[in-house]
Amino acid sequence: MNQKKVILTGDRPTGPLHLGHFVGSLANRVKMQDEYNQFVMIADMQALTDHASKPELIQKSILEVMLDYLSVGIDPKKTTILLQSLIPQIPELTMYYLNLVTWNRLKHNPTVKQEIKQKNFQDSVPAGFMIYPVSQAADITAFKANFVPVGDDQLPMIEQTNEIVRKFNRIYNKEVLVEAEAIIPEIARLPGIDGGAKMSKTLNNAIYLSDDMDKIKKKVMSMYTDPTHLRVEDPGKVEGNPVFIYLDAFDPDKENLQKMKDHYAKGGLGDVICKKHLLEVLEAFLTPIREKRKQYEKDPKHVLDLLMKGTSEAEKVASTTLKQVKDVMHLY
Ligand code: TRP
Repeated sequence: MNQKKVILTGDRPTGPLHLGHFVGSLANRVKMQDEYNQFVMIADMQALTDHASKPELIQKSILEVMLDYLSVGIDPKKTTILLQSLIPQIPELTMYYLNLVTWNRLKHNPTVKQEIKQKNFQDSVPAGFMIYPVSQAADITAFKANFVPVGDDQLPMIEQTNEIVRKFNRIYNKEVLVEAEAIIPEIARLPGIDGGAKMSKTLNNAIYLSDDMDKIKKKVMSMYTDPTHLRVEDPGKVEGNPVFIYLDAFDPDKENLQKMKDHYAKGGLGDVICKKHLLEVLEAFLTPIREKRKQYEKDPKHVLDLLMKGTSEAEKVASTTLKQVKDVMHLY
């Protein structure tokens, strides 16, 4: 018997993944896959809730995201990678859960509220978007996930999931569904190259895992640093400086990094030198990833086969859960 705890995460496929994804989740997944029964979901149905008019983008991004996963070392032998839209049990569970959630509760979900503002939906919020927390509860509970590693912006999703789990188990009088616990990564988010709080595709301030050397060079050399560090001899600010935040995340030589920080803070260390060092560090980090990606890119059919294989394994699990759910709901 497999006694491993279940862990589940997911990404909306709306573009390639960037360094922020790596520190926020991909690195963790590579670590967790030995210890846990890990599911990673490419949430294409959820992507449609705010990208309904861009089906080609989503389709293209599914392969892109798969390549990102495989090239950073998420191993399909250890991790079940699945495509959400091919698990019909998820929308079915969603329909049942929707009756356990009030409209008012959905309107006040902080993540949803914040995203509505960010995406500038105004009065035209798609109904599918409003209910995506319920669909995400179905993602999580279909696999009886014990743990869900997410950025702190997704915490309200886990809360809402657990409310559904408790209500379901109470009303139908059986412990069918399992409560999930959020795991928040150490570095929850990486700033953008523009110094913005979050690296994101929408803000156009991201370094992608699939960027080539030239692109990375341009991005790193144009990075925001400390705007008051005008002359090399001036003391510079390390705290909140994206170049040093990235070095903290990716430079394995912490001793040398501490020396650089001290030097920068004291004055006499120029931004260009720091950026060149960061460039080397990122190149060293990305080179093996890039090589692995090249191998997988040669055979996209194989990559999609891996996804289909994971999906069919996942469907068996979801189907068992759905049977149990329908059973206690007297739907047979
Ligand atoms: N909402 C998540 C995001 O935007 C993606 C996601 C979909 C997810 N289903 C999930 C995350 C289930 C964790 C668990 O990043």
